[in-house]
Amino acid sequence: MPYRILVLVSEAYKFKLDNHSIIPSALYREGHEVHIGDIDTLGVHDSVVVCDRMRVSEEFVAGGEFPKLSESSASAEDFDLVWVLAGTHPEATTDYFQLLWLLNRKVPFVNDATALFYLNAKSNLGAVVPAENLPASYVSNDYEFLNALVESDPGRSWVTKPTNGGCGQNVYVVNDQDRNRSALLAAATGNATSRYVSYGRDIIGMAKRYTAVQEYIPNVRSNEKRVILAGDVPVTGFLRFHRDNDHRANATVGARFERLTLTPDEEVFLRRLGKRLMDHGIFYVGVDLAYPYVIELNMENPGGLNYHRRATGEDKSSEAVRAVLSALRTAGKLSQDRR
Ligand SMILES: Nc1ncnc2c1ncn2[C@@H]1O[C@H](COP(=O)(O)OP(=O)(O)O)[C@@H](O)[C@H]1O
Ligand SMILES: [Mg+2]
Repeated sequence: MPYRILVLVSEAYKFKLDNHSIIPSALYREGHEVHIGDIDTLGVHDSVVVCDRMRVSEEFVAGGEFPKLSESSASAEDFDLVWVLAGTHPEATTDYFQLLWLLNRKVPFVNDATALFYLNAKSNLGAVVPAENLPASYVSNDYEFLNALVESDPGRSWVTKPTNGGCGQNVYVVNDQDRNRSALLAAATGNATSRYVSYGRDIIGMAKRYTAVQEYIPNVRSNEKRVILAGDVPVTGFLRFHRDNDHRANATVGARFERLTLTPDEEVFLRRLGKRLMDHGIFYVGVDLAYPYVIELNMENPGGLNYHRRATGEDKSSEAVRAVLSALRTAGKLSQDRR
């Protein structure tokens, strides 16, 4: 008998070639009873976590219509496993995490709710990545501190990025020589001084914002990779190529990508990292790697299967979901023999 699996995605008009179409299709192809639910319909009805959902009865294709979620406010608890593949609107984030945490008390998740909340952020990388694999890192909302840090060594460059951003948003390289440096650090920390002077703090309220600052990784342009870890297995991913005029190698901002290759050292490191991540309840994650450094971790909807397919024509999704389920079984989160 197959597992009963709920995949939480965001409702859309059409499917894109991303995990929302690829992962439920792969689980279905592997013989599981798969339901997809809309993350933005989570609620609690008479102590039961519910969502709008439908049972998958054919594989989804990119460009295909998103199906009607025929079962309204149906139990999200009556499953062997939940796979969260979507975030929500920033203003609904607190409720989203609270409801996911509640659901996760009853059903195992591919990535635990606590990990989605605490570890899918650029501030907390040090909790899971060994110190020697992280560039020098700071998290701060203090413009003066960061400006002084960058000024203190004219030979060092830094990358500043929102602690909870994604897809290359507001990722800036800063160094002492660049006359944009102060303005970029001010923007990264909320432009608090300018806003207080312009509007008054009484009117504008607390304006400071957190940013993560990492030392610029020297070999990044020749060595950046996205690797998808399913448990401790690097199952897919892609090589990244920065555009000449961009510091960011996100495929979403137009960087070229090719088939992933890993060196033996990278492979060993990733398997070790996968084990650490599983100890934190993380079984499917996109690692941004410029070995020996980890740039960041991505848990919600990490690109990998899709770009590998676009680069090579190959579909690794069955292999990926098998590796995830096998790791979850080994960890005792899923029963050994399928129900
Ligand atoms: N410390 C760093 N050194 C060099 N380049 C970096 C660094 N941090 C980020 N970048 C570049 O910026 C891109 C986006 O940063 P990342 O931390 O992955 O945030 P996002 O969540 O926006 O993808 C990376 O893929 C990489 O090309
Ligand atoms: Mg990234």
